Amino acid sequence: MRKTIRAGLVGTAAAALLVSSFTLNASAAPEHTAARGKPKPPAADTLGGLGQRAGLRIGTAVDMDALAADAPYRARAAGEFTSVTPENVMKWEVVEPRRGTYDWSAADALVDFARSNGQLVRGHTLLWHNQLPGWLTDGDFTADELRALLRKHITDQASHFKGRIWQWDVVNEAFNDDGTLRDSIWLRTLGPGYIADAFRWAHRADPRAKLYINDYNIEGVNAKSTALYDLVTELRAQGVPVDGVGIQGHLSVQYNAPHDIAANMKRFDDLGLETAITEADVRVPMPVDSTDQEAQAEGYDVLLRGCLLTRHCTDFTVWGFTDRYSWVPETFEGEGAANLLDENYGPKPAYQALTEDLKLAAGRK
Ligand code: XIL
Repeated sequence: MRKTIRAGLVGTAAAALLVSSFTLNASAAPEHTAARGKPKPPAADTLGGLGQRAGLRIGTAVDMDALAADAPYRARAAGEFTSVTPENVMKWEVVEPRRGTYDWSAADALVDFARSNGQLVRGHTLLWHNQLPGWLTDGDFTADELRALLRKHITDQASHFKGRIWQWDVVNEAFNDDGTLRDSIWLRTLGPGYIADAFRWAHRADPRAKLYINDYNIEGVNAKSTALYDLVTELRAQGVPVDGVGIQGHLSVQYNAPHDIAANMKRFDDLGLETAITEADVRVPMPVDSTDQEAQAEGYDVLLRGCLLTRHCTDFTVWGFTDRYSWVPETFEGEGAANLLDENYGPKPAYQALTEDLKLAAGRK
């Protein structure tokens, strides 16, 4: 097993870059502000507050069950972050469990929560190969029928939330690691054109939302990120309304951190696209030790610095903020403790690392 050890905090050259990126990021800060109400600004010493000074939103995925049941979770989700992403409740299986019957209740609750806390919402996600309703995956639909269903889904969902979503993950995880398109129900039945269609339908339904293509294992320069780069280049050339690239950032301390992330993000930036880190977490083999926690801090730090060094990186979102609630243990056998705070909401070295990066970027070391 390879482990990377966090060598120390940001070096001098990187520090200088961070400070200059503060100016750039501040001028490129999202114009979109919280819609209504009188939300209080985030406290200065929170990630969200520091991020605001550094010119970017700091977000978290929100687990709606935890939000309902756990007051400390709710307080932290409200106070620490300036944007939120629904972890599950905007996925197709949740919003349309039976064909033709929508249930927006949980997703609406999240949007209301965000509004009352002055947070922006990343909509996640309009098109994916997972968490589809059974009636869709088990149905024997022709290509025409499936295309009509997808069009209706995207149109209805984007319309329902029109004006309330900052960024939509329109297309999620369309690629394989080797850069070929994933063999999903969409590719198989509709062909590769489904991606451009999805963006066009979403744009028509909510013209002001920023539309993202989102994926994992695209942090560094590799076959997958290059294929995605080629695709968005082509889509832009065709006038397809794609605004941004979401880099999920699901890392493991068992692999090297993606130190070339800034170079990768720069090429998207140079195309005129926004970027965002959309689902950051850094899992460790259990039980966790202090070496793992240092390596984990390095992983988070590399991801955040990638964003801070990229002019139009708009937000840094973590996929959950406490080890109390995380998708990791049930998804990656033997791994866990992937978040910034421990199970009792105590800050881990990773939290400290992000705080220091943001302070540096905000020019108030
Ligand atoms: C995960 C959720 O965290 C889990 O609760 C759920 O069981 C499965 O999906 N990439 C994505 C997210 O885009 O939607 C996934 O979320 C994690 C991987």
